[in-house]
Order: sequence, then C-alpha cells, then structure tokens
Amino acid sequence: MTAKIEIRGLAKTFATGHAKVQALAGIDLDIEDNEFITFVGASGCGKSTLLRAIGGLEYVDGGSMLVSGHAVAGPGADRAMVFQHYSLYPWLSVTENIRWCRRLAVHTRDRTLADVDAASGRADALLNLMGLGHARDAYPNQLSGGMQQRVAIARALMPKPDILLMDEPFGALDAQTREVMHDLIRHVHKIEKTTIVFVTHDVEEAIYLGNRVVLMAPRPGRIAHIYDVPLPDQREQDMKHGHDFLALKKEILARIRETSGMKTDLDQLERLNLQTS
Ligand SMILES: Nc1ncnc2c1ncn2[C@@H]1O[C@H](COP(=O)(O)OP(=O)(O)O)[C@@H](O)[C@H]1O
Ligand SMILES: [Mg+2]
Repeated sequence: MTAKIEIRGLAKTFATGHAKVQALAGIDLDIEDNEFITFVGASGCGKSTLLRAIGGLEYVDGGSMLVSGHAVAGPGADRAMVFQHYSLYPWLSVTENIRWCRRLAVHTRDRTLADVDAASGRADALLNLMGLGHARDAYPNQLSGGMQQRVAIARALMPKPDILLMDEPFGALDAQTREVMHDLIRHVHKIEKTTIVFVTHDVEEAIYLGNRVVLMAPRPGRIAHIYDVPLPDQREQDMKHGHDFLALKKEILARIRETSGMKTDLDQLERLNLQTS
C-alpha cells in the first residue's frame, strides 16, 4: 500500500531582494488515505507553503511529492482548498455558490443532463450535511462567519475531492463557533471519507481534530516531531479536559517555545546588552 501523499526531501526557498528564506527543508512525510492530519507550529515555519505545495499552488525547489502515486504538476480537482477567508461569490445565493464549480464543469466538459441532476442531488446532500438547509436561498452577506465557512466547505466538497486542504479555516471565528465547526468537520471527514490536511497555529485545535499532529519548526521550515493523538475517533468536547489531551497539549506547547527560536533571540539580546553595557 502506498501513501495517499508521499513527500520526500521537499525543499523551498523564497528570495526577496537579497534575503533568502528557507520556507521548507528536508520534509519527509507519508499521509495515508482517509487520514485527518493536522499541522501546527509557530508563525513562519512553512505550514502554508507546504499546504500550497500539496495543492499545486506553489512550486518547490527540491525533493518530490506524489499524490495518489502521481507527481503534483499544479492544482487538480482531486484536491480542494479552504482558506481562512471564505471567498464566496457575494452575488450568488448559498445554493448557487455550492453548485458553481460543478456548473463550470458542466459547461466545459459537455456533461449530460443526468450529470446535472446528480450534481443537484449532491448539492442538496451537502447543504444538509453542513446544516445549511434553511439558508439555501440566502446571500453570503446575510450569513454569520461560521455559516459562510460552512458554505465554503460545502463548495470545496462538491467535486468529491480525494483531499481537503484547510489553511487556518476557523481562524477568524469566535471560540463557540469554532467548537461547533470542529465537531462538524470531524463528522464531514467520517461521512465523506476524504483525506484532510489541516493547518492551524492553535495546539488545542490541532489535537482535537487530528489523528496525527505534525509539529513544524522555523528557520528552516521543517518537521520537528509527529505525534499520534491518543483519542478515539469519535471526539467529544469533554476530552479537551482529559489527562492525555492536556499532557499532549503541554508537551507540544513546550516544543513550540523551544523550536520557535524565541529563546535564542533572548540569549542574543542578553549578549548584546552585555556588550553595550
Ligand atoms: N511568497 C513569498 N515570498 C517570500 N517569502 C515568503 C512567501 N511566502 C512565504 N514566505 C516566507 O516563508 C516562510 C514560511 O511562510 P508560511 O508558509 O506562510 O508560514 P506559516 O504558514 O507557517 O506561518 C516565512 O518566513 C514567510 O515569510
Ligand atoms: Mg500560514
């Protein structure tokens, strides 16, 4: 059995003016089919760059990446992305937003009427799955942030992607709405059987959602550690207060502080102070 996503020695350097930033260096990782894997780490450690590379939105300089056994050569319908900002079409209703990509496919690939009917059925199923049934005719500006993000997720799921790539999708939502979205996205994962790659800077979110948590570290962007999450598949909010959960959270937070370079910066500052005083 080969992995759904196979990453070997992946590297990416950004050059801006004279400065070079090694956003990714020596990334090795296998992501299994139907996994829910989360990435966490300090700002600037390459999480978004890695996600964009998997999505085919970012060229890399070295290493290799296979998705379903094929080298990534750009974006594809097998991989859908959801970002923090919902990017819905404001002039389309909820239903129309969800059907949009499929409508394009109908026009461009000369689908039959039966395909269009099937798409309508899927749009309805996704509306129900995401709890949007009562809002189907509403427009994005009439919806709360959480509801808009549900629409964005439904739209991403419409073409039945193998892989859902999510970059801090709940970062702009309030704490209570986030909890609801956490349980919803776990449910979506179970029903739709997609592989989910989820980036966040929130350690609690990473543990609650993931079956594995990948901790990344900056300068150069790399994998510092991979944790198996000791929780059953059926997650409950109460688990956040459990011993195993809290122990893992503490461990990851300590590792982030250790690897984020904050300590080294402080050391350097101290040395500078000594030299100038
Ligand atoms: N388009 C870009 N041009 C120049 N530098 C970039 C670009 N995108 C990201 N970087 C740099 O690469 C590093 C990793 O960025 P990113 O993947 O966005 O990190 P994260 O998502 O973990 O915060 C950062 O130092 C960032 O400044
Ligand atoms: Mg980012």
